[in-house]
Amino acid sequence: MESFTEVASQIARQAGAKILEIGRKGPGFELKGVFDLVTEADRSSEAMILAELIRRYPTHSIVGEEGGSHAGTSEYRWFVDPLDGTTNFAHGFPVYNVSIGLQRGDELIAGIIYDPTRDEMFSAERGAGAFLNGQRIRVTPTVKLAESLVATGFPSRKRHQNINIHFYYQLAMLTHGVRRAGAAAMDLAYVACGRLDAFWEFALNPWDMAAGVLLVREAGGTVTDMRGKAFDLHGTNILADNTQVHEEIVELFAEVYRGEVRVPLPQIAPI
Ligand code: IPD
Ligand code: CA
Ligand code: CA
Repeated sequence: MESFTEVASQIARQAGAKILEIGRKGPGFELKGVFDLVTEADRSSEAMILAELIRRYPTHSIVGEEGGSHAGTSEYRWFVDPLDGTTNFAHGFPVYNVSIGLQRGDELIAGIIYDPTRDEMFSAERGAGAFLNGQRIRVTPTVKLAESLVATGFPSRKRHQNINIHFYYQLAMLTHGVRRAGAAAMDLAYVACGRLDAFWEFALNPWDMAAGVLLVREAGGTVTDMRGKAFDLHGTNILADNTQVHEEIVELFAEVYRGEVRVPLPQIAPI
């Protein structure tokens, strides 16, 4: 019998091909909220993934970002982000992916993240390690935050309420740099495979994180909330890192939460 990751990988590969095909035609977009984009690719990809998951696992529940859902009868629940990085996709910026995670009860047990632009398939199964195109991956051995490359994101929803700029600025000043590529699942996959040392973000949804959280854990990383407390898939923020720099980031974040700044913002001199 095929494993969950084998099945999810096949489905994500098909969805990825569909996304690229729509991208070649010129994706276009609609707004589902202020600055919150959706495209034909999001909908087609979700429809394909849901149809195939329901066909393979009719008793499993499914939650899809674009409203697709299936009420199953078993303890398995899939979280599907049919196109993570929609804004990038709509602008032809080639950083987006398909993300599919699976929970049994409250435990994440399988996850895949597929980047169709680079044909990169990240996969993880609980207790069996994390892989990129079949090769084992691990988080970086970086021990100092000052030598780290980190990433974050700024969700389009309620962005005027987002306090992340305060965290962003401190990290930007105290690391090799902060990347903000616009696809949260991919950021998590990149922590897992050692292209980034850490990632954090506010206001993500379970479908953005389910697969990536398992990938980071299976690659030897640590996932908590931004105060260092237990990670909640339905919580309001996430910190995922290579474990080595975890304490240092949590300490820095605690200072920012208290309103303290290690590096003050430069002042704009009036002309
Ligand atoms: C978004 C991306 C982005 C993150 C947003 C997500 P979507 O997902 O992951 O990087 O900052 O919070 O909503 O809407 O493109 O699937
Ligand atoms: Ca997403
Ligand atoms: Ca999406």
